[in-house]
Order: sequence, then structure tokens, then C-alpha cells
Amino acid sequence: MSIAYLNGEFLPLAEARISPMDRGFLFADGIYEVIPVYGGTPFRLDEHLTRLERSLAEIQLAAPLARADWPALIDTLIRKNGGGNLSLYLQITRGTAAVRDHAFPPPGTPPTVFAMASPMSAPAADSPDTTAGVAAITVPDIRWLRCDIKSVSLLPNILMRQRAVSAGATEAIMLRDGLASEGAASNLFIVHDGTVITPPKDHLILGGITRDLVLELCAAHNVPYREAPVTEANLRGADEIWLTSSTREMVPVVNLDGQAVSNARPGPVWRRVARLYVDFKRHLCGL
Ligand code: PDD
Repeated sequence: MSIAYLNGEFLPLAEARISPMDRGFLFADGIYEVIPVYGGTPFRLDEHLTRLERSLAEIQLAAPLARADWPALIDTLIRKNGGGNLSLYLQITRGTAAVRDHAFPPPGTPPTVFAMASPMSAPAADSPDTTAGVAAITVPDIRWLRCDIKSVSLLPNILMRQRAVSAGATEAIMLRDGLASEGAASNLFIVHDGTVITPPKDHLILGGITRDLVLELCAAHNVPYREAPVTEANLRGADEIWLTSSTREMVPVVNLDGQAVSNARPGPVWRRVARLYVDFKRHLCGL
């Protein structure tokens, strides 16, 4: 039985209830985090909490918990869900208001704090030698101009991901003004002549925790890398394309819009960095 956390209480997920007047439900007025848990240990928790606090500040929502109080809540949720490998979802909305009004509710309206844990299957990077890779399609980036906020307002991402799924692909890679930004729920990397390239962190992409770790690993192990805009031509001519996210870690794209990428196999730079990623994760989480 999956145990959730809602506004100070741990309870079976099936029994958790929020009001239809919750601003998360009415306006998608809230933010979220997805934190991977390996062997019962949350991965890069500090980085996720920093981003959570940043998202809250950007939407002018006071943090419902002090920074020091999150780890205990998260540990309790992990324990109550049996530990192991989990994907931990945390959402905070601007709470329940008496009337539907776009403007913020009266000061002092308590935010809604919700968390749940779901089982997480082994990501591609766990088996760098046998991973087949995935197909992706390109789509126009129809989102707003604050993609750096991890907002629960994900309708464009949902529509784009569904386009990918309907086309038999795994992810949609978004193009805006001739530049590739990121996936519907992942960051984008390409490899060109042995150099790993990923778009810079700005308002047009979510600053991924996995993205940052991949760059850290490249720096620590002398894998050449650059944070630079990726044009559509760069993407289509890339030697390798990868996608990164907390739930999927590092995924090699072997087909883009029906065309083979890196001979339809995960490339050598992906295999190298994926091994570094798995080693780092196992070491950190004592696996
Ligand atoms: N999504 N870009 C977007 C638009 C995302 O939604 C995500 C993650 C990422 C990767 O960020 P990170 O490495 O911190 O997970 C990039 C999560 C997993 C989700 O929405 O489920």
C-alpha cells in the first residue's frame, strides 16, 4: 500500500483528499520536485531542495517547511513505503481559497503540501552495455518563458510527450527559434567530435539536477564538455544525443524523427559517462 504525505499527515495514498478549490487543481498554481531514491537513500537531496526553494521563491510562495525539516519528512515517507528504489514526488500549491480568483489568496492561507513515493524501475544507465536506446521526435516548444520554474503547469509538456508516444517514440525534443531546448520531461545533451554539449541554464529550460551531475562527472573525468546553444542543425548532425532526468538518468537517443542517430546504437561517449554515473550513484548510495 502506497503511503502519502498530505499537510502534516501520513496516510494511504488512496485516502488522500484535496479540495476542488485547491489552487493547484483550479490554476496549476504550484511547483513540484521528483527525487530519485536508491536503496532507501534520496539522491542529490540537497540539490533538489535548493531547486524546490528556488521554485517557491520564484512564484512568491513562502516555504511551508524550514530547509532542515524536509529530510526527516522525506526519510519517513521512504521508510513508510518500504525503502528500496523509489521516485519521490513532492508538490506544493498555493492552498485552498474561498473563491476562484486569479490573484493570490489572503495572506496566511496555508499551502497544500503533498508527497508520494512510487516504485522506480532500473534506468538505462544501470546497464550501459546492453541498453538499446530510445527514439525521439522533434516538436515546437510551445511553452511559456519561465521554463526554469518547476511548475505543475505541464499541459504543453503533456501534449508534446503524447505526440512522441503516439508516434511510437519515447520523448519529444523541443525546438524554439531554431534552437533545441530540452525534452518534454528531460534535459538534452549532444556529442559533437567527442565534446559533450548541453544548452545553458536559462529561462528556456529546467535546470536539471541530473544534467548538473553529468557535467560534474565530465569535468571530474576529463570528458570535454561545453554549455552552449544547440541549433536544430547541431541536433540533427550530432554524433550522439542523450536525455537526462531524475527518473530516467541518462538515456541515449538512437533515432530522431525516424533517422538513425550514432548508427542506431548508444554511442561510446554515452557508454563512458553512463558508467561514471552508475559508479557515482552506487558509491554514494552504498549499493
Ligand atoms: N522531470 N526538463 C524538464 C522539462 C523536466 O520535466 C525534467 C524532469 C528535467 C530533468 O530534471 P531532473 O534531472 O532534475 O529530473 C528537465 C521530472 C522527472 C518529471 O516531471 O517527472
